[in-house]
Amino acid sequence: MRDKVTKNTILDMKARGEKIVSLTSYDYLCAKIVDESGVDMILVGDSLGMVVLGFENTLPVTMEEIIHHCKAVARARPKALVIADMPFMSYQASVEDAVRNAGRLVKEGGAESVKLEGGQRYVPVIEAIVHASIPVVGHLGLTPQSLHQFGGYRVQGKDSRSADLLVEDAAALERAGCFAIVLEGIPWQLAKRITESVSIPTIGIGAGPHCSGQILVVHDMLGIHDRPLPRFVKKYADLGLAMQNAVSAYVREVKEGRFPGMEHSYDAEGRKKDRTAGK
Ligand code: KIV
Repeated sequence: MRDKVTKNTILDMKARGEKIVSLTSYDYLCAKIVDESGVDMILVGDSLGMVVLGFENTLPVTMEEIIHHCKAVARARPKALVIADMPFMSYQASVEDAVRNAGRLVKEGGAESVKLEGGQRYVPVIEAIVHASIPVVGHLGLTPQSLHQFGGYRVQGKDSRSADLLVEDAAALERAGCFAIVLEGIPWQLAKRITESVSIPTIGIGAGPHCSGQILVVHDMLGIHDRPLPRFVKKYADLGLAMQNAVSAYVREVKEGRFPGMEHSYDAEGRKKDRTAGK
């Protein structure tokens, strides 16, 4: 049995040079499997808008939706640290909104920390949430909530000016009290530079191998997807195909009268068997 992962565990891991492994989860059973596989941090990401709720992007996701899914993940009582994403417009309008919404994620959702996107201009927001005793993860680079501002999902920090700005953003987030920063969709050289320039861990997604840890969307790495996967995703399984094969076999067997067989049926005479059947 491993110990509960806290924000301090994550900071110690960076100090020891131990890689930090993170994955998203949005429901109870997935969180249990992910946790029992040894992941250090579970993110209830706003990517749930795309992979669970069928939206085009993360922008429509609401506080209620994140809280609903975060509650399910928290019920798995994971040893991994649970991070809840702050959805679009839950922290952008005012510091007060941000603190109240971060508080709801912890109080109602059972999150142990929150993540929000953006650089230096979010310093007051981050400071206020940290003052409310809620650990904060920052998120820089290709931040999906800025999709329309970027004009699409484009790798960020490719020129020296925008790279320098991201290095300054990372320093500002560390000073504001973030205990980790997600770096998404930036060149690996820049991710290395940022990782070496801050003392808190960086968690990469599409940011190369030199970050303190990595994160992926669990559906992507398991091969459950309906659109082409980005270059940075490694598919560790093809569960989408496995599900399709299993469901097709079920359809075939029911149509052909081959399921259920007698081994899946109750027998009025076979009381002992009924009792062990569980239902
Ligand atoms: O919402 C999400 O899943 C994320 C990760 C991809 C970092 O923010």
